[in-house]
Amino acid sequence: MAPLLRLLAGVAALLLAAGVSPASASSSAVDLGVNWGSQCTHQLDPSEVVRMLKANGIMKVKLFDADPWPVGALLDSGIEVMLGIPNDMLEAMSSYGNAEDWVAENATSYGDRLKLRYVAVGNEPFLKSYNGSFMETTVPALKNIQKALDEAGIGDTVKATVPLNADVYVGDKPSEGKFRPDIDGVMTNMVKFMHDHGAPFVVNIYPFLSLYQSDNFPFEFAFFDGGRSIQDNGGVSYSNVFDANYDTLVSALKKAGVPGLKVIIGEVGWPTDGNKNANPKLARRFYDGLLKKMAKNEGTHLRQGKMDVYLFGLFDEDMKSIAPGNFERH
Ligand SMILES: *[C@@H]1O[C@H](CO)[C@@H](O)[C@H](O)[C@H]1NC(C)=O
Ligand SMILES: *[C@@H]1O[C@H](CO)[C@@H](O)[C@H](O)[C@H]1NC(C)=O
Repeated sequence: MAPLLRLLAGVAALLLAAGVSPASASSSAVDLGVNWGSQCTHQLDPSEVVRMLKANGIMKVKLFDADPWPVGALLDSGIEVMLGIPNDMLEAMSSYGNAEDWVAENATSYGDRLKLRYVAVGNEPFLKSYNGSFMETTVPALKNIQKALDEAGIGDTVKATVPLNADVYVGDKPSEGKFRPDIDGVMTNMVKFMHDHGAPFVVNIYPFLSLYQSDNFPFEFAFFDGGRSIQDNGGVSYSNVFDANYDTLVSALKKAGVPGLKVIIGEVGWPTDGNKNANPKLARRFYDGLLKKMAKNEGTHLRQGKMDVYLFGLFDEDMKSIAPGNFERH
């Protein structure tokens, strides 16, 4: 229990430092969500997790599946929920009957007791390391789930989307953002569907990974202290890679013909162990800057105003694959 309590206490402290009362965090000031992963050998009792989320004003969670155990604890909690469909179910969901069954069992069966807002169809299915394995099934699965939600009568409030890694777009400068050439067709098709159905684009942005992946990455640019900036066209300056990356996506959406598509940060965070830059001190520096930025509701150069953000994550998960790096479990 200690790690979660520590994190929640840490979030509360950061919100206070940012001039935000945690009690009001759920309403409008900082509308903070968290990812609730479950790849741990020792699970906390979900009702205890829900109690602590509420006590800390965290009223949005994102799950990676629809396990009835945590979902049951979220019933009647008032917490807004994003359920997930794992990548290994995408092929099944590309048949409409299976999508209908998923919606019947994991969404409509809970009625109004579950404040379901989004269904995340797959998780970063277009990561380069997946070698295109989910290229054919992701968009059909997305379309089937939204159709099943619509036919079940909850499609107006529950939107299907696909959380994507920031490697689905590229660009040397934010204003030059575009989808990765090898997946441009499928991405354009997907974002048009999201636009037509009022669904958001969900992206995971990790400044830590920018540092991890390149020794030449300017260290200070990973944080929000203004220690380093880059220039975009037209005299626009970016003081942190999070904003620069977000606006690269906004430019890519514009190029794909959906300039106004809502964006949600599905994951953002900083690991606390497992790499030379993964430690509590740098994690605190990162979260401190991120939460202060969120409290100001300033947004980015291309998208001003409030951001919708889910932190990653609630727990250290000791069963996660360390293929991406040893930090992955922290
Ligand atoms: C409902 O979600 C659970 C947990 O993710 C999954 O195991 C199950 O197969 C889903 N039900 C259907 C009918 O797809
Ligand atoms: C992707 O391809 C690489 C190289 O061929 C291979 O090592 C890896 O296991 C593949 N990954 C998947 C998810 O298929």
